[in-house]
Parts: sequence; C-alpha cells; structure tokens
Amino acid sequence: MFSKSIITTAALSLALCQQAFAASAADWRSRSIYQVLTDRFARSDGSTTATCNTADRAYCGGSYVGIQNHLDYIQNMGFDAVWISPVTAQVQGSTADGYAYHGYWQQNLYELNSNFGTADDLKALSAALHARGMYLMVDVVVNHNGYNGAPSTVDYSVFNPFNDESYYHPYCSIDYSDTGNTTNIEQCWVGDTSVPLPDLRTEDADVAAGYQTWITQLVSDYSIDGLRIDTSMEVNTGFWAGFSAAAGVYMVGEVDEADATYVCSFQDYLPGVLNYGTYFPLVSAFSSTSGSISDLSDMVTTVKGSCADTSLLGTFSENHDQPRFASLTSDMALAQNVITFTLLADGIPIIYEGQEQHYNALGGNSDPYNREAVWLSDYNQEATLYELITTLNKIRKQAISDDSTYLTYQNYPIYTDTTTIAMRKGKMVTVLSNKGASGASYTQSIASGYASGTQVTELLACTTLTADSSGNLVVPMAAGAARVYYPTSSLSGSGLCGASTKKLRFMPRPKPKFVKKPKVKTMFKA
Ligand SMILES: *[C@@H]1O[C@H](CO)[C@@H](O)[C@H](O)[C@H]1NC(C)=O
Repeated sequence: MFSKSIITTAALSLALCQQAFAASAADWRSRSIYQVLTDRFARSDGSTTATCNTADRAYCGGSYVGIQNHLDYIQNMGFDAVWISPVTAQVQGSTADGYAYHGYWQQNLYELNSNFGTADDLKALSAALHARGMYLMVDVVVNHNGYNGAPSTVDYSVFNPFNDESYYHPYCSIDYSDTGNTTNIEQCWVGDTSVPLPDLRTEDADVAAGYQTWITQLVSDYSIDGLRIDTSMEVNTGFWAGFSAAAGVYMVGEVDEADATYVCSFQDYLPGVLNYGTYFPLVSAFSSTSGSISDLSDMVTTVKGSCADTSLLGTFSENHDQPRFASLTSDMALAQNVITFTLLADGIPIIYEGQEQHYNALGGNSDPYNREAVWLSDYNQEATLYELITTLNKIRKQAISDDSTYLTYQNYPIYTDTTTIAMRKGKMVTVLSNKGASGASYTQSIASGYASGTQVTELLACTTLTADSSGNLVVPMAAGAARVYYPTSSLSGSGLCGASTKKLRFMPRPKPKFVKKPKVKTMFKA
C-alpha cells in the first residue's frame, strides 16, 4: 500500500508535468527571457572546448540535453523563460548558405530536427524548466519552408504536410524597400536563389487549418508556454486570429522594421511583437559616445503612443540577426547602459545568449559571426555583464512585487541632454549616459517626481541620495555608468544593497493568477 501511494503520486506529478500551462500574455508580462540558439548554447557531452567556427555555418553540437544541463547558468542570471530555436526537421546537409543549424529552413512540421535531440529530450527540457517555475518559448515558422536548390527546381513533395505546389505562392523575391506593398511582403519569398524559402498561401483556409492542427499538437506535446513567431510581417494578418486561438499561448512576432508605427500595428493581430522600433535608436544611442540620445527619447514616446500594450513587447538589444553590441563598441560602460535600458524599460526583456559574456562576433559583426558557442565562455558566472544582468533582473522582480502598477506603467523620459537620458517607470528612476567608460564625472540635477526628502538607493553601486526640497535628485555621474534609483523604504525583502531578504517559497509550478490590491503610494507627487 505504501508503494502504491508513491506510484500514484509519481504518476500524478508526471501527468501534471505534461499538462500545458497555456501561459497567457498576462502570465508572460512579468517574465524575463533568455534567447538560446539551440545549436550554440550547450552540448550533450558538456564540452567547453569543442570548436565552433561560426563562418562555417555548420552544426556545432548544441542540444536539448545540453540546455537542460545548464539551466542553472540561465536561472542564476534571473531569467524565468527560455526561447529556443525552431524544433522542426530541416533542409539536411550542406548548401551554398551552409547548414540549417539555426532552424529557419523547415521541411517537416511533424518531425523534430534530430541534431538537437529526441522528442523525449525536448519533453525532458520542458519538464525541467517547469520544475524550476520557468517557461519554455519555442520559435516557430509559418511563413515559409526551406529548399536546397533554385526556386524553379523545388520538389514540393518533400514537405510535410504542405506537399504540393498549390499550397505555395509562385516565386518572386521580396523587395524589402517596399513594405507598403502587402502583396510583395506577404506573397513573395524570403531567402535567396540558392536556398529559397517557398512561401505558404497562409491566406488559404486549408493551409491555415493545417497550421492550426499542427500548433495545437506541438504546444500540447511539449507543454510549450509561448511562441516566438519568425517573419510575422511576411504572413497575411488575417492568419493570426485562428492560429493564436489554436496555440492558446502568448506569442511574440518578429517584424524586423525600423518604423515603430508599422511594427506596433502588428499588436492588432499578435499579443506581442519584438520591439524593433526601439531597437535601432537604442543601439545607435549607446554604440558610440556621439550616439543620438534625442532619437532614443523620441522613440520611447513614439512607441508609447503607437503600441497597443508596451508591456507585452519583447525588448532587446541583440539577437541572432543583428550585430553583437560589442562588435560596435568594446566600451563596457556603453554595454552596461544598453543592457540596463533593455531590462528596465517597458516590455518583456530578452537577452540573447552570449550578450552576458560580451561576445563580439569576431570576424564580422552579424550573421553568421554573431552566433558564437556559449560553451566557449566556460559559462562564466563572474563575467561583468552576467553579474549586471543578474542584478537588473533582481531589481525588476523587486519592482514588480513591490508595485502592482510597475509592469504596465509606461516609462517616459524625465530628462535628456546630448549624453544623458533619465526615465521614470513606476517608483524607479533610471539615468543612462553614453559618455563611455572614460567619460568625465559630472552631476546632473533631475526633476525626479520623488517627494521632497525621499531617500532613494542607487541599486547598481549601492549608494543613497535624498530628493531635495523641489523633488530634484542631484545625480553624481561618473565613468559613464548607469544609475538606477528606487525608494529605500520600498526595498525591504529584496536583498538589494543590504536590504533584508525574504525567504523564497519553493514554487514547482507557476502560481495561480491573483490580482494584487494597488498600494497607496505617497512618495510621489505626480
Ligand atoms: C506589389 O508587389 C507585387 C509582387 O512583387 C508586384 O507584382 C506588384 O506589381 C507590386 N505592386 C505595386 C503597385 O508596385
């Protein structure tokens, strides 16, 4: 009888583990995402020396088992969600553009890419994440498949399930200089003439239904909590409502365009969208000491005015398609500022693997050089930016738990000059600078919105300041370092800068949602 009850408990917890959370947009809002390129994060053999020459565009051996074995590295940095590469079976072997190690050249929706492991390996990774209270986000591609050979030679019978030419638009190459022409964007093909990416007729009912059947099953089979949607703008917008209902989880779409109004318009169809509007002026503001702070400040205002819900944007400063920040400047203070913005501005923050190791895409700045193997860092948890990200994730979590309005409070610039931007979000005031590590010291008085006499703690260097009789903070800036202020009295339980620590409750599964009563705040005048 004793053993029977153990078996029953084990069977029950297994059943629970395999149940999808169906994590909603609201569940994701407070999360912080670490982006893994599955082939490049960790190998099953645990090697930290296996060579991975990015220029080869070849598989380097990263796997689901490898990710599972290195979840401490991700969780210790404060992340509670992991975005992995597309999982489906791909173009096999070598092509003129290398191998499909990135996962964006799909051929069979119903088979996994065996280079990354088995179905059981992926289920085990999902269960291991959930056991830590973390979410699994899977990258999915619905716009296209991939083929090794000229567009006119595509053998459509190799694809599953869309195994006939009638499921695809006829070949034409997308002209990205004309995003106003929706026929061009939605029906022409991505890719090149060596590895064309045949474009699905997602506007057709049979194709839409095929994708819906597939995504329901995929989310259920692997207990997926959220989806990153590749090439979202290249799909007809009418596709998303049915797909979203079939997936039943939060989705963040890729619209790789600088026009924030255009990017934000996709929030009419998808709950989240990658914050490309902000990305370009953000990186540009901090990638040199002469970057434009005013362009960034203007963009914060534009995005706030254009996006339906800034708290559901995916805010990032690096990814596998864009230059490594460190390839633009080696200045560590500038890297600290750009990461501070990424973690503490509006949206769900996303850090791309290797950003914490200040990887610089040796040999080139972007694809394929920006896809360095993380294992070559030996998973150094004492790297400067690893420690910074850990602190910033803690700060964000503290603000979320202290202030029920923090996540939806839209940050806005309260001060700018040519090298400084100060922003307020809830009770937090962040002051960023692009003066760089050799920048001179200066003090900057900022109308903070704090009540006269409020004591605030600067959470990156653990100093304190008191708002003067007009509510100004006289901020000491030095060596281009970012400053993050929070009322000292609101830090108890956070463990930040010597504040007391709460006992962590063990949470094997995400908590049921509950609505916190907004606290009455008195320290702010505005
Ligand atoms: C829009 O793009 C399609 C596909 O490339 C093209 O055939 C059509 O002429 C374009 N329309 C305009 C108005 O440019």
